Amino acid sequence: MTPALPAPRTPGRYRIALVCLGNICRSPMADVVLSERVAAAGLGASVEVVSAGTGDWHVGEPMDERAAVLLTKEGYDASAHRARQVDPAWLTDNDLLLAMDRQNLRDLRALGGAGAGADPERVRLFGDFDPREPGAEVPDPYYGGDDGFAEVLAMVERTADALVAALRDRT
Ligand code: 4NP
Repeated sequence: MTPALPAPRTPGRYRIALVCLGNICRSPMADVVLSERVAAAGLGASVEVVSAGTGDWHVGEPMDERAAVLLTKEGYDASAHRARQVDPAWLTDNDLLLAMDRQNLRDLRALGGAGAGADPERVRLFGDFDPREPGAEVPDPYYGGDDGFAEVLAMVERTADALVAALRDRT
């Protein structure tokens, strides 16, 4: 079953961070698609979507060209993205942080350090909200072919729809 969205830290606002390894393939694709769905649902004023990578290799770069070409072909605007690295402050700034795979999730939770750490309700897998394969990882398409990007887009689109349905009840 799809988990409930954690309560917003500030009523009436919801901040979602999407996190992968490089922030040039999976999380930017999810960012573009979820942002588009949020705007189409009329939630743009209350929901903020951001993305970042756990690594810093691609900071400042645009999206991977294969991801951008596919998104553009499907009617999305991929041009504004510039890669960022996740900051530990994001763990408390965002209402929900969604990791693309289990390694990203471990790395993200480790940013919380040994103390109170990252709230497991707020830091979880993007795939926990995937209505078709709950708990699935979004596979890294970077070293593969175009099929991998198409698979990522399909997962991201259906999961973004599920997230927007849940956000309607939260904002
Ligand atoms: P992403 O894909 O985490 O979906 O952005 C990758 C991008 C770059 C690298 C690995 C994965 N890299 O090793 O540079």
